[in-house]
Amino acid sequence: MDRNYWERIAPNYSEEIFDVLKNDASGKIVGAIEEVASKEKTVTDIGCAIGKWIPLLATAFKYVVATDISAINLDIAKEKCKDYPNVEYQRMDMSAYTLTVTPCDVAVCINAILTDNLKKRINFFQSLNICLNQGGTLILVVPSLESKLYTNIIANRWNVDDDHKEKIESVEKAYALAKNIKQGVTDIDNVPTKHYLKEELELLLKLDGFTVDRVEKINYTWKTEFNNPPKWLDEPHPWDWMCVARKD
Ligand SMILES: C[S@@+](CC[C@H](N)C(=O)[O-])C[C@H]1O[C@@H](n2cnc3c(N)ncnc32)[C@H](O)[C@@H]1O
Repeated sequence: MDRNYWERIAPNYSEEIFDVLKNDASGKIVGAIEEVASKEKTVTDIGCAIGKWIPLLATAFKYVVATDISAINLDIAKEKCKDYPNVEYQRMDMSAYTLTVTPCDVAVCINAILTDNLKKRINFFQSLNICLNQGGTLILVVPSLESKLYTNIIANRWNVDDDHKEKIESVEKAYALAKNIKQGVTDIDNVPTKHYLKEELELLLKLDGFTVDRVEKINYTWKTEFNNPPKWLDEPHPWDWMCVARKD
């Protein structure tokens, strides 16, 4: 999941990538943003992709710094959001070793820290800190490992959706899968993707200079995991983790 991957996806982004804003029926993420929003404050949208969150942010804040590793994504976002003059677009690799950023009062980072590469994740988390002013708020959404395992267990136990069966073509692939899962890396559409435990997320943020205010589930329907969810399958629904934290 390097820059090339995101540039390649960009032209078909809406078909390829899960839409968190559309699927968060609870409105918890929008609620968390609105709680801290102000026309006096600046906000950065880290990993903004094609700018789905920009209209909301540009309306609620004084100024938006929209950043992404993909230049094509940023061009699409710029075009789609041209009615919002208070948005600045910056191509930026949050996993880079050195970074020049415009620190803001609030940072929103929604399903952007997905890389299976540990060094890149370490750098990304450290960069979150420098993107914020002292006392600033981070709203972070990441895939949940608990949810992914729960889904896998259900798929396997009740044989839901044949396509949930893992296709393990080689010994190398089997070795990679086993090695990855121990690190919370598991495939989404055959792409190794980092998933997080709640406690892991809290620890990572604490060690990178944040105080965690709350971690909440962002629930989605079972249709987001299965083509044919069993009728008896109800709560808990699959989820991502949303974490609201303050820079110390
Ligand atoms: C799954 S998309 C989420 C997009 C958006 N936040 C949303 O919720 O609609 C992940 C985005 O993170 C960006 N990204 C991935 N790694 C990045 C990095 N190291 N630095 C900056 N952006 C990155 C990708 O280019 C992609 O646009």
